[in-house]
Amino acid sequence: MVSVLLDNIGELVTNDARSGDGSPLGLLRDAALVMEGDRVAWVGERRSAPAADALVDASGAAVIPGFVDSHAHLVFAGDRADEFAARMEGRPYSAGGIQTTVAATRASSDEMLAANVARLVAEMHRQGTTTVEIKSGYGLTVADEARSVAIAAQFTDETTYLGAHVVAPEYADDPAAYVDLVTGPMLEAVRPFARWIDVFCERGAFDADQARAILAAGAAAGLQARIHANQLGHGPGIGIACEVGAAAADHCTFAGADDLDNLAQAGVVATLLPGVEFSTRSPYPDARAMLAAGVTVALATDCNPGSCYTSSMPLCVALAVREMRMSPAEALWSATAGGAQALRRDDVGALSVGRRADFAVLAAPSYLHLAYRPGVPLIGAVYRGGQHIA
Ligand code: NIG
Ligand code: FE
Repeated sequence: MVSVLLDNIGELVTNDARSGDGSPLGLLRDAALVMEGDRVAWVGERRSAPAADALVDASGAAVIPGFVDSHAHLVFAGDRADEFAARMEGRPYSAGGIQTTVAATRASSDEMLAANVARLVAEMHRQGTTTVEIKSGYGLTVADEARSVAIAAQFTDETTYLGAHVVAPEYADDPAAYVDLVTGPMLEAVRPFARWIDVFCERGAFDADQARAILAAGAAAGLQARIHANQLGHGPGIGIACEVGAAAADHCTFAGADDLDNLAQAGVVATLLPGVEFSTRSPYPDARAMLAAGVTVALATDCNPGSCYTSSMPLCVALAVREMRMSPAEALWSATAGGAQALRRDDVGALSVGRRADFAVLAAPSYLHLAYRPGVPLIGAVYRGGQHIA
């Protein structure tokens, strides 16, 4: 197997607390990393680096683990720029806009949908993301959800069935029949392609009993749970995530003290999506209270055409620091190792021996610059599984 030495790393974030400075980021200065095939084979100070077949010079820059974006809705057609403009003039965000994208997605060909996902995944790669979760949820018929999850599976192993995004327009007068479809024939059709099942548990989407039924049917079919919870108001979503042992409760914008204790005790990751609050001009979730309660926090983009059309994890890191008062170290950990935990992955999100060689070389001397220099393209080179992808 060919070995490659990444040498002359000014600052290496390993996310391995046993390495380097002993902090959760496991920071090493004047470091080097050896990859063999798609894995990390050695990490340490550069003066003790072993010989390798090939050399890449990081020129003193910082190197971080690739971002793990654990929440994205990429299978859709069209955009909703007009809705965004109206929102910026004062109109509130509502789940109703999803139906606009459902109509455009249904009218689109498989090829057009796949091309749109490819475009967004390439955008993510250029911004340092090396693992992405991709949801369905803009088809809402058996055939359109099945093709959405199948298209997602062309780009990632982290595929999520979100037939329970909103009630399909044809079922507006009979939501119970739509839940039967989601938990019956639609689930059967997506099953070969989906790893996860998700539900938007919110007023205007699905209530507590419907969410429980949907996640239970998914579990019976072998799909693990994750939930859109407490995005637009206080509600039962976080409680249900804890009750069913979901991997993550996502959004958590409106969370009470009991919700936070519940998340910490159940070991459910709270995935915060600050791009949504930025793009809907809403109050941010209380990340400090979550961290104080011992909750594991992940950061993700929620990239979608409605509530937040960014594919940029560096932007989310900057927002988490500036708007949610996370430290730059906490934010970077949450955007990498936190995302890996939200996807129950132990092969990504850190740079220790045996992990996949997924990393970004920054055009900066320190990871601090991700928040310190918001909006600046600081991602120099990106490697995934030891391969240069951007
Ligand atoms: O995560 N909350 C539900 N779904 C998306 C928004 C979808 C849309 O507006 O198209 C979200 O914010
Ligand atoms: Fe979402």
